[in-house]
Amino acid sequence: MENNDKHNISYEYISRYIGGVLEQSTGLLRELELYAEKNNIPIAPLETIRFIQTLLLATQPKRILEVGAAIGYSAITMAKCGGNITTIERDKKMAELLKQNIEKAGLLKRITVLKGDAADILPTLTEQFDFIFLDAAKGHYIDFLPDCIRLLKDGGLLCSDNVLYKGMVATDELVIRRKITIVRRLRSYLKTLCENDRLTTSVIPIGDGLALSCKGREQK
Ligand SMILES: C[S@@+](CC[C@H](N)C(=O)[O-])C[C@H]1O[C@@H](n2cnc3c(N)ncnc32)[C@H](O)[C@@H]1O
Repeated sequence: MENNDKHNISYEYISRYIGGVLEQSTGLLRELELYAEKNNIPIAPLETIRFIQTLLLATQPKRILEVGAAIGYSAITMAKCGGNITTIERDKKMAELLKQNIEKAGLLKRITVLKGDAADILPTLTEQFDFIFLDAAKGHYIDFLPDCIRLLKDGGLLCSDNVLYKGMVATDELVIRRKITIVRRLRSYLKTLCENDRLTTSVIPIGDGLALSCKGREQK
């Protein structure tokens, strides 16, 4: 395996080209990118963010659910496309920074933060969402899936990030020993997504791998 980008998903020259040709972030969002890089906080790469923003602008969701907010970078970028966002974050320090950043962005009225573990919070939610962005602990996506399907409106989109996990999900050649459980769980998650009879799923080799599922099926 060679000639790959830092995520091992695409060729390095392709990722570099895409990263350069996309409109770059400015202002607070650029500050958040630099803060995340300096403090080793994993945030969605720009190519994933621009893809999600394109989807949001095309589908105009009114209600968006995010699982895994970190410092609010993706929540703020999504909110800029319209709609109201509910985002879940379990890390106390991260949740504080998240609140501050949402305030700085002037989006307190449009982004609701739920502090706590998604495993506890998701089962308590009852409202329906048009779009769900799953970007939390990868090993638990499979546990969150039944609630995500329950909470997703018919025709809604579920976007699961990091599903190819540095390429390890696609080939044993890349698997690091201590990551084997997460890799197995992600493989199981992708298989479950793709076989679910209420979803239509595509897997996109962008960023760290994105699964895009629509709650709906083609007519037979
Ligand atoms: C990849 S980061 C999120 C990045 C963010 N979506 C972005 O692109 O700006 C994952 C975040 O999910 C949070 N997280 C992980 N597992 C969680 C869980 N079970 N419940 C709530 N938050 C969780 C972590 O604390 C971390 O801040």
